Amino acid sequence: MTDGEGEGEGKLAFALPERPHLLVTGGAGFIGSAFVRDVLARRDGTRITVLDKLTYAGNRENLAPALADEEQGARLRFIQGDIADPDAVAPLVAEADAVLNFAAESHVDRSILDPEAFLTTGVIGVHVLLEAVRRTQSSRPIRFLQVSTDEVYGSLGQDDAAWTESSPLAPRSPYAAAKAAGDLLVRSYVVTYGVDAVITRGSNTYGPFQHPEKLIPLFLTNAIDDAPLPLYGDGMQRRDWLYVSDHAGAIEHVLRRGRGGEAYNVAGEAELPNREVVAALLERLGKPWSLVRRVEDRPGHDRRYAMDGAKIHALGWRNRVPFPEGLGRTVDWFIANREWWRAVRSGEWDVYYRRQYERRLATSTNAER
Ligand code: NAD
Ligand code: DAU
Repeated sequence: MTDGEGEGEGKLAFALPERPHLLVTGGAGFIGSAFVRDVLARRDGTRITVLDKLTYAGNRENLAPALADEEQGARLRFIQGDIADPDAVAPLVAEADAVLNFAAESHVDRSILDPEAFLTTGVIGVHVLLEAVRRTQSSRPIRFLQVSTDEVYGSLGQDDAAWTESSPLAPRSPYAAAKAAGDLLVRSYVVTYGVDAVITRGSNTYGPFQHPEKLIPLFLTNAIDDAPLPLYGDGMQRRDWLYVSDHAGAIEHVLRRGRGGEAYNVAGEAELPNREVVAALLERLGKPWSLVRRVEDRPGHDRRYAMDGAKIHALGWRNRVPFPEGLGRTVDWFIANREWWRAVRSGEWDVYYRRQYERRLATSTNAER
């Protein structure tokens, strides 16, 4: 793999059958469901089985646009199950041409409150999937794609060069550590067992159907309700924003064109401090900056993420949606789909919100613009 030695052990680009059958784990979540909707909407005969545990973050409603269409619905099968359960995983992998693993606990703040589920899904779950792929590849070709993140690289200083795929893995939160462990397990199965696997490392993704625990949908939905917006610390942390359909498209590109054994950065090419993101979304909504509250920072808060995307560009892939356009689409979608996010922001949400924000908001101060 490129993140270290072992160059040359991987296989070349993967030839999927004309009408492939894909196993998409975590396909009821934000990015997984976007991938499923986009692939099925192309009507090219691809069949998809979604395996999803339906944690608090999984939502069958995210697949409703595909299920509402008779032709697309006929090519989509949904199974509720856990990637860490070998009995659930083995038969599904055995009938797939490729496995795309989107399943993960994905929120950094929750990993700080309760790390355990992150390790079970991110480490044991990835291992269970890899074992099933290893067994299947002894009789026919199968490719595994691990959906990973730029957070495995750690945190950059203001003037540091952007990460390449050869940068060391230096995770700093339990979420990032679990994802890095997953990447290393994939690497070990490529090198030891010759598994045909690729890794994508995407940057901060945003767009329709994102769970409102994350920065953009949290601040959008709070602002719509004129509720306070809890900005961590000085709000000068920098993230690189990637529109969800671009992330999903990059994953499919790497599935088909990526070289086996390699990792590919998927950069958003829109690096911004959080304050600017918040100001842009408030402007779109026509809401005042006075909603923003400066709250106690996230422990171990990564300061800056930035990736070099040259490797995936060389495979022929480029982003299509610039940040202002993606943000506009996202704001419009959340305004038009209040029933979707009001349902998500109920039940378990209240307990989480109080735990994460009650004390922070009670001790908050004005966030000077
Ligand atoms: P999400 O939290 O919206 O969705 C995760 C999905 O996985 C949910 O449907 C959940 O029910 C399912 N899931 C969780 N544990 C499971 C298990 N044990 N078995 C089966 N299903 C399980 O997450 P997302 O934002 O769509 O992220 C998808 C993937 O992309 C994750 O692997 C994440 O690490 C990675 N990623 C996310 C971003 C981002 O900004 N959101 C950026 C880069 C990479
Ligand atoms: O970089 C890719 C990663 O991006 C993914 O791997 C993760 O799954 C995804 O959750 C995301 O992680 P972040 O921690 O960067 O995203 P989040 O939306 O939680 O926070 C973005 C920035 O906004 C971060 O600097 C923290 C800040 N923030 C976030 C929340 C939820 C706040 O200031 N206040 C908040 O309430």
